Amino acid sequence: MCGIFGYTGRTQVLPILLEGLRALEYRGYDSAGIFIPGAGAFKEVGAVHNLINELPDDLTGTSGIGHMRWATHGKPTRKNAHPHRGAHGHVWVVHNGIVENYKALKARLEEEGHTFESETDTEVIAHLIEKEAGDACLTGEALARALSHVRGAYGIAVIDARCPDVLFAARWGSPITVGVGEEGMFVSSDPTALLPHTRSAVYLEDGEYAVLTPREYRIFTFDQQARAPVVSPLDWDPEDLKKEGYETYLLKEIMEGPEVLKNSVRGRLVPEEGRAVLGGIERFADELRALRHLTIVACGTAFYAGLYGKYLIEELTDIHVDVEAASEFRYRRMVHRPHSAVLAITQSGETADTLESVKEAKRKGFLTLGIVNVVGSSITRITDAGIYNHAGPEISVASTKAYLSQLEVLALLALFLARQREMGEAEGEVLAREMLALPEKVAAVLARREEVCALAARWKDARDFLFLARKGNVGVAYEGALKLKEITYVHAEGYAAGELKHGPLAMIDRHFPTIAVVLQDSVYEKNVSTLEEIKAREGPVIAVVTEGDTVVREIADAVVEVPAVSEHLSPMVSVVPLHLFAYYMGRARGLDVDRPRNLAKSVTVE
Ligand code: F6R
Repeated sequence: MCGIFGYTGRTQVLPILLEGLRALEYRGYDSAGIFIPGAGAFKEVGAVHNLINELPDDLTGTSGIGHMRWATHGKPTRKNAHPHRGAHGHVWVVHNGIVENYKALKARLEEEGHTFESETDTEVIAHLIEKEAGDACLTGEALARALSHVRGAYGIAVIDARCPDVLFAARWGSPITVGVGEEGMFVSSDPTALLPHTRSAVYLEDGEYAVLTPREYRIFTFDQQARAPVVSPLDWDPEDLKKEGYETYLLKEIMEGPEVLKNSVRGRLVPEEGRAVLGGIERFADELRALRHLTIVACGTAFYAGLYGKYLIEELTDIHVDVEAASEFRYRRMVHRPHSAVLAITQSGETADTLESVKEAKRKGFLTLGIVNVVGSSITRITDAGIYNHAGPEISVASTKAYLSQLEVLALLALFLARQREMGEAEGEVLAREMLALPEKVAAVLARREEVCALAARWKDARDFLFLARKGNVGVAYEGALKLKEITYVHAEGYAAGELKHGPLAMIDRHFPTIAVVLQDSVYEKNVSTLEEIKAREGPVIAVVTEGDTVVREIADAVVEVPAVSEHLSPMVSVVPLHLFAYYMGRARGLDVDRPRNLAKSVTVE
């Protein structure tokens, strides 16, 4: 999510670092920072050009590290910007990822007398590494010892100012690439940024670290085994590299689904206790225990995620949940009942209608909460508490991975609220373990994307689509229709399947296809009957079904199978073929799927 860059070599480091950071800006740009041994650390909020404006003219040095931040812990401020330093300012670290146990590590270090300057999880890594290095220059052994305490995901670059030519990098869960150059050695979280300097790259694996000096590099495992490096050629176009080999950001973001689901729950589920740990809202635990009414406000895709929130929270708790389009809610009478709260769901945290709804709700005295992807965005600043998605920057205008993470965070919230009420530990454990299994299930659906691609090609000239589902998947039907409209400009409507006979059935004929979510759940038979009604009118049917289903296969014109998943969590799996369908149909129609016409990523005006 963040971008990291480092260099040690024979030429001046500053222009190299700045060029590297500019290349990484697309991964997040809420603050930028560099450290050059002998010259010091410089950090600034915002994009790289803000940092450049603050730099003195006489910065020299031939090694250094830099960072573009996409905030996960702590607001995007200068203090929270990387690089972060150890207790004595010898060791400096830039980090991409999330340290799950940073609170425990920080508390332990504080007991030992360490003081911290930032709210980040990264700073504990710097303190740990410097502590392990002791009075001498940092070594690989000390680095590995320090990292053995860290749980979570990290890609890091590290410099010890006492031995400035040596650059370290390490990886566990977040990518790190070493660039092998003529004039020096590079490290980057993203091979794109290496392209101006070298076409030779060595990819670190999880549990490995690299030691770089101006003329050579060596790779070791954390248990000190030297690894013979495999040098890979970097022969991509820089634009393609940012898309990590995918032809569009949209496909890349859909394909990130499994990773996004992992990041959303990282450190937040305690399966053996059947609990969700949500640090961001914990201080309102008493208010949440007494909560009777929750109003979810959101727009577009986030609104459809909210419908899932209503379904699951009402299934698992006694809380009454309303979901309101923020554009409507802000102008309506808001009734503030005792024990009520307003929850805003928003990827950007900047959507004007959602922002104004929250402001109005605050004026009326509601407890206001947020599920927000962009750390430090306006809505995170005005809500009383919230939960971050940790989905990483979403570049494509149409929201896909953020939607998936919104569903996942809502499931976490539902579990949290349910365990404050009747839900027992065993039931909570089942749900938590099913959540942990979701990434694999989503990956299985993504592996079948060619099948969806073929279906999209087959129906690419259809002029209208109906999307149907029941219960928790109704929001998925709406989302499938919205994505198709946005990406293909084809008319589509989402409906609760039971509503079909109350009107939309009149539209069905052999030119009007229906995409239906018909999983083997409590409404399976009802959904099968709906498909029969459509087929009786010659309507083509594409059905998303549970693996091995033979009944629907007989009725439908085409099926996409998804792995069996519990009814409470199935939307996170069933939505994936719908996102893929919209994507491939947009491509088949020759459209710019990353930038649909007339739309903007963040709707900051009314
Ligand atoms: C659809 C889409 C929009 C956004 C909506 C809210 O693909 O991206 O419908 O979901 O504009 O945006 P956020 O979540 O930033 O508040």
